[in-house]
Amino acid sequence: MTLLIISSDKDSSPWVDALTSVDDSVEISVWPCSNTRAEDVEFVLCWNHPRGLLRKFPQLRAISSMGAGIDHLVSDPDLPVDLAFARLIDPSLTQAMFEYISAAALYYQRDMDSYRRQQDRRQWQPLARRALSQTTIGIMGLGALGHYAAVELSNMGFRVEGWSRTQKRIDGVTTYAEPQLKEFLSRADILVCLLPLTTKTQGILNAELFASLPPRACLINVARGGHVVESDLLNALANGSLRGACLDVFQHEPLPRDHQFWTNERIIITPHSSSVTDPVAVAPQIIENYHRALSGRKMLNQVDIKREY
Ligand code: NAP
Ligand code: GLV
Repeated sequence: MTLLIISSDKDSSPWVDALTSVDDSVEISVWPCSNTRAEDVEFVLCWNHPRGLLRKFPQLRAISSMGAGIDHLVSDPDLPVDLAFARLIDPSLTQAMFEYISAAALYYQRDMDSYRRQQDRRQWQPLARRALSQTTIGIMGLGALGHYAAVELSNMGFRVEGWSRTQKRIDGVTTYAEPQLKEFLSRADILVCLLPLTTKTQGILNAELFASLPPRACLINVARGGHVVESDLLNALANGSLRGACLDVFQHEPLPRDHQFWTNERIIITPHSSSVTDPVAVAPQIIENYHRALSGRKMLNQVDIKREY
């Protein structure tokens, strides 16, 4: 009975240490491993696994993502979809995401992008301040991360609106359901994408969406690079319909060194670091899920893989 960690781009040793410190009776292996038999693997913890690999374990019962998103699993055409799947939800993730979004939102609300450009010209020019209560943040996706960010940004004094597939009710936040996308967009001075990457949301940040925002709106994308149509984003920034974009996620990560985004003065780039899973914080829920899966019980934060999020 082995818990196997499969990740092509995360360092596994902090995960092994964190899981072992919660329960040292669980046998943990890290892929690729010569001394673990495929038929002993019953639980996999994974992130960006090689396509098709998850079919190689005949006794596998459950798969947990090493993060909040499961798009890296859904995108495997050879995924064993009849198994149980879980993702991670954790207060440290939701808090870190809120901190990132609030930092980026205040950057735009206090005109730091304009002051940066003025500095380049040695220009001393105070700009009129727009109050927080006059600035609308529109959050796409009101799940674990979007809901928390919406409440906290509203507590900070921003006007907050949110859009999700199904109608939500959040105190102090105006909410819209899927068919009301245009109305939601028309008010978002700062648009935050916190959607899962699915068949329906792929490429949603496109020319038509940018044209539906108020003039000189800003974009904060902390979801996935696949939400963005990159050429549409560059055009919207070039023609001034978008004022700036703060991007944490990209179609290809790491962002290739010759990518146009690096040198665009209207784009801020961070290396997929807005909310990084802390192995110590999430180890207890992974160990709990390991035991639940082995005894045939529903896992914490279990997801319906066919829904794609
Ligand atoms: P979640 O709890 O699953 O929430 C997803 C939200 O998106 C829900 O409100 C859902 O609506 C909505 N949604 C899904 N499909 C939609 C559609 N077609 N139209 C409108 N709304 C739709 O996810 P989460 O935990 O908040 O995480 C969101 C995403 O953030 C993850 O999938 C991941 O890609 C990204 N993320 C990034 C980082 C980073 O470091 N950059 C870190 C963590 C997560 P309903 O509630 O109505 O179903
Ligand atoms: C990070 O991107 C996550 O999905 O947790």
